[in-house]
Amino acid sequence: MSFVKCLECSRCGNLVSKIGLRAVCPECQGPLLVRYQLHEIKRYLKKTSLSDRPTDMWRYIELLPVDADEEIVTLGEGYTPLLPVPHLGQLVGLPRLYMKDESLNPTGTFKARGLSSAVSMARKLGYTKVAIPSAGNAGGALAAYGTRAGLEVFIAMPADTPSANVVECQMTGARVVLVQGLIGEAAKLVERLQTREGWFDMSTLKEPYRLEGKKTIGYEIVEQFRWQVPDVIIGPVGGGMSLIALWKALAEMEDLGWITSRRPRLVAVQSEGCAPIVEAFRNAASAATAWPKPNTFASGIRIPKPFGDFLILQALRDSRGHALAVSDEEIYAAVREISREEGIFACPEGAASWAAVKRLKNNGWIQEDETVVMLNTGAGVKYIDALSRYEKEHQPVGAGRPTP
Ligand SMILES: Cc1ncc(COP(=O)(O)O)c(C=O)c1O
Ligand SMILES: [Zn+2]
Repeated sequence: MSFVKCLECSRCGNLVSKIGLRAVCPECQGPLLVRYQLHEIKRYLKKTSLSDRPTDMWRYIELLPVDADEEIVTLGEGYTPLLPVPHLGQLVGLPRLYMKDESLNPTGTFKARGLSSAVSMARKLGYTKVAIPSAGNAGGALAAYGTRAGLEVFIAMPADTPSANVVECQMTGARVVLVQGLIGEAAKLVERLQTREGWFDMSTLKEPYRLEGKKTIGYEIVEQFRWQVPDVIIGPVGGGMSLIALWKALAEMEDLGWITSRRPRLVAVQSEGCAPIVEAFRNAASAATAWPKPNTFASGIRIPKPFGDFLILQALRDSRGHALAVSDEEIYAAVREISREEGIFACPEGAASWAAVKRLKNNGWIQEDETVVMLNTGAGVKYIDALSRYEKEHQPVGAGRPTP
C-alpha cells in the first residue's frame, strides 16, 4: 500500500491529486513534489527495522511512490558504498572524508535511481512510450529501465555525448536521435514528439517520480552513518535533481523523527565553462540566467539553465551551503588524483566534487574536524573518449600522463 498523500507544486503550493502521471503543475507549470502521509509512516516504520531489508534503494519502499512490490522495475539500484577516502583526506587534512560511490549503480551512474522509480510509475499508470532529452546518463538509464519494463523508449542527446551513452542506449533497441546543439535542442525535440505522438516526457523535474528515487541517496548516507548527518555534502549540479532530492530526504527524515533538525551544508559544484547556479548564488538571485556558451567535458553538468533552478538555490541557502565552479583542468586532475590515491575511477562530474573539497578546505570554509561526503555520481569508464580527447587537446605528449 502506498503512503502517497498528494502532489504539491513546489512553486505555487497548489495540491494536485495523486491520480495519473502528472507532468508539472497545471496552474503555474512548476515542478510537482510527492507528499506522503509521514505521520502514518512514522507509526508503521521504525528506522531500526530497515536493517533486515534488501540492500537496494527499495528498502525505503514506504517513502517511494509505488503501491506494491510487483510494480517495481528494478535492476538492483542503490545502497551504494559510502567509502572512507583516507588518502585524499590526508592530502587535504580532512580525516573524516567520505565518498558516496554511485558508480556501482546499474548503467554506472546515480541516474539509475530516478529512472527506476519513474519507469515503475509510468508503467503502473499505463504509459507505453517514454522519452527523454539527456546529457547522456539519464538517457542510458531510461533505455535500460524502460526496456526492462517493456516500454518504447525515445532518447534525444547532443551529438557530442560520450559514445558509451550512445551505444548503451542503442543496444537496448531504444530510438536514439543525436541533435546538433545542446540539451535544450534535445528538449525541444522531445516536446514536439510529446504533442505529436504522445510520448511521455521524463525530463528532469517535468514529472514528479524521478526525484523520489533520487532522494534515496540521502536516506542511505544518513543510515550508513548510523542516523547521523554529516557536516557537508558536496556534489556536482547540472539539472540539480540530486541536490533538491537530498534536501527533500532530510526534511522527510526529520518529520519521521529519524534525525534532528541539524542539517548538512550542501555544496553545488559546477564547471567554470557552465556555472549558472554558481553565478545566481553569488548574486543572491532566486533563479538562474541561461549560461551563454556552455563548454565543459563534464557533459552531465553542461546544463545552461536548470528547470528547477529556484529549488536548487533555495536548498543551498536554507542549508547555509555554497556553490562554486572549478575549471576543467582541475576536474581532469581530480579524476587522475582520485584514481591514483584511492583506486576509484570517477566520472568527471563526480571528480569535480574533489576539486571543490580542496578549494573549500584551503580557504577555510570546511574545517578539519568536519565530516564531509563527496558524491561520485558515476563511473569514469563511461567517459573514456571524453577523457582521451581532453588529454590530447590539453596535455603535451608525455607531460603528466599516467606512468606505465
Ligand atoms: C554523471 C553525472 N553527474 C552529475 C549529473 C548532474 O546531475 P543533476 O541533474 O542531479 O544535477 C549528471 C547529469 O546528467 C550526470 O550524468
Ligand atoms: Zn504551481
